[in-house]
Amino acid sequence: MPKQLPITTYGMEILRIKTKPVTKIDSKIINLVEDMFYTMDRSAGIGLAAPQINSGVSIAVIDISALEEYKKEKPLVLINPSIIDSNGEHEREEGCLSIPDIRAEVIRSKEIFLRYYDFDLKEVDIELKGFMARVAQHEIDHLNGKLFIDYLSEEKKKEIKRLLAKIKKGKVETEYPLHIHSRSKSDL
Ligand code: CO
Repeated sequence: MPKQLPITTYGMEILRIKTKPVTKIDSKIINLVEDMFYTMDRSAGIGLAAPQINSGVSIAVIDISALEEYKKEKPLVLINPSIIDSNGEHEREEGCLSIPDIRAEVIRSKEIFLRYYDFDLKEVDIELKGFMARVAQHEIDHLNGKLFIDYLSEEKKKEIKRLLAKIKKGKVETEYPLHIHSRSKSDL
């Protein structure tokens, strides 16, 4: 049975560490991916990266099909993903399960060419456009220790400073369990 895991929160070191590539697919990895989908779903998220459930491996899951507009989009499991090429620019508001209550406009590439690995560790190249491309960029950033708030202007960063400090201390209400600031690292 998959488990709902608490979401690591802004201020935790794991969200700032570059993840390690997956080198073999074993039951640990399969269970991790199942837990990630389950946790994402229970947290009403559309994307989730392993560091958000306190794991240091390079895996992200995406499923935007709960949004009416994107109900035909299939879920994706990205193992060791990287962006090979990108085109265009597009601005849209983003949020993150690890940074509750903060939303901000972020400029992302309009389309991306993505390389990742499947469950047989076979290389897969795909092109993503629009919202799928945006979510993938957000999640791949997580795998590199980067958060969407890093893109904000100094002015906007100042504006959210107090809110971030509150989040760091766990003074935030969410409808999903949070894993608040601690020094714990993944053992994966
Ligand atoms: Co996020």
